[in-house]
Amino acid sequence: MTRDHDAPEREAQDDEQARRALADGGTDDAAAGADDVALDPWGSSTVTDYRKLFEEFGIGEFDDVLSQTPNPHHLMRRGVIFGHRDYEPVADALRAGEDAAVLSGFMPTGDPHIGHKLVFDEIIWHQEQGADAYALIADLEAHSARGMTWAEIDEHARDYLLSLLALGFDPEAGELYRQSDNRELQDLAFELGSKANFSEFQGIYGFDGETNVSHMQSVVTQMADILYPQLEEPKPTVIPVGPDQDPHVRFARDLAARMRFFGVTEAYASFELTDAERALVGAVYDARDQYADEPERPRCEEAGAWLAEADQPTLDELGVVVDDGVRESTVEKLENGGMEPLRPRVRFLDLNATDEAFEGLLEAIPGEKRRYDEHVDAFDLEGDEAEELARDVELDHGGYGFVPPSSVYHRFMTGLTGGKMSSSIPASHISLLDDPEEGYDKVRAATTGGRDTAEKQRELGGEADECPVYELYAYLLAGDDDEFAKEVYDECVNGERLCGGCKEQAAELMREFLEDHQAKRAEVEELLEDLDISLESPRRGVAPGDD
Ligand code: TRP
Ligand code: SF4
Repeated sequence: MTRDHDAPEREAQDDEQARRALADGGTDDAAAGADDVALDPWGSSTVTDYRKLFEEFGIGEFDDVLSQTPNPHHLMRRGVIFGHRDYEPVADALRAGEDAAVLSGFMPTGDPHIGHKLVFDEIIWHQEQGADAYALIADLEAHSARGMTWAEIDEHARDYLLSLLALGFDPEAGELYRQSDNRELQDLAFELGSKANFSEFQGIYGFDGETNVSHMQSVVTQMADILYPQLEEPKPTVIPVGPDQDPHVRFARDLAARMRFFGVTEAYASFELTDAERALVGAVYDARDQYADEPERPRCEEAGAWLAEADQPTLDELGVVVDDGVRESTVEKLENGGMEPLRPRVRFLDLNATDEAFEGLLEAIPGEKRRYDEHVDAFDLEGDEAEELARDVELDHGGYGFVPPSSVYHRFMTGLTGGKMSSSIPASHISLLDDPEEGYDKVRAATTGGRDTAEKQRELGGEADECPVYELYAYLLAGDDDEFAKEVYDECVNGERLCGGCKEQAAELMREFLEDHQAKRAEVEELLEDLDISLESPRRGVAPGDD
């Protein structure tokens, strides 16, 4: 794992593929995929090939859920938000007007810049679609993992909050907090910490004997951040972040599941099956007409004998991929089941339930049920109803009932000077606090995807997909106006647009944006003072070294 720790700029990575793919929403040649993809929350995650994130890390393509998403944001429409984990429940809830939440966090290590604006916009958009919105200042993380002093943190925290409010976050409807002064959050972090151990920290984050303990605490704090919107009530929650945060999201999903009182699965008989065996037994059950003396009561041993003898065409007809090992173990379990009937049911497994909760569940299950030591089988419940029941009983008995959190991932922005967009190279990024004239100048000075001469540009067209200036239009300057973004793109690649004029236009738009944004920041100053979030930390302590 890469551990490059001078990296507040991992927020914004260079990426050839990304830029190329940006305009057409697709990916082309694989040549650039040579580098490994490393997802390291505190390193300089390089994403050289976004496809690897789909293949190796199991991130879903956002395009697949775009049509389910109500009024998709322009960052979604333009492929800037390119990936997700389990976004469907959030999209469904937004569409149906049901409860949902959005939360993201910001480490106040420097000025907020146009890369952070992407995330601000994502939070605000979800809030506008009806989600409960949360934004937090990750000050414990900044202090323990980045070595920021409390004074530095206070200064930057204020700037993040002002920009978020200026961009339209509604603090009445939503919630803003700092990690360091949220007691409920810390209590949740402590509980979650009891389900996590050090070897996982080693495996997931590359922590070792030198890692400071507060840094570890900041990890459980982030886990608590991610689940915080569900403290009052479980609900689908989306975490908009860069893909470098995916390890956190996966870990939080795991912890959310580990906290549950009951696991709900399908079963067919009293004995336990693995997922693969269960799929196979389900298919064998469906084929019961072929082997059962009484098809309403197929017996385990009949099913086992039939499966053991089944030839390839018969297996193919089952419609599940049958691995030899799985087939063997399944046959054995079925044969051991003897005369026990195969009968579909939902099974509630006892994961963390107290005795009372287990009794409570037993009582609450309607219809026929059978109790075992570590589980209860219910014969008259559908899977969804069972999930709901398990959650209700858990909540009644003091559990959290967490829904696994979802996430969406945005592309890293390219630096204006080519290469990475980096907070430590001022010319490479535009801070939301930059003087509008300075913003103008930075865009004028930016690298482009243009040809060497105007003549060539007219002949060959520019390379909008390689152009940081085009990216500015697509991510920010074109706002919601897809036609304008497309016009810039088409004119560029057709050779009708020359870089001088194009940059001038972009630079003017950037100046306008910064003027407007900073005026709004000034307007929300008072609003911020009135909010229930402390702008000065009473904390003392020397920042630990970067680790
Ligand atoms: N770790 C995040 C970062 O590096 C900040 C963060 C803290 C966060 N808590 C969070 C992000 C919860 C999303 C959700 O910027
Ligand atoms: Fe980039 Fe504009 Fe030049 Fe095209 S014309 S390469 S978009 S600066």
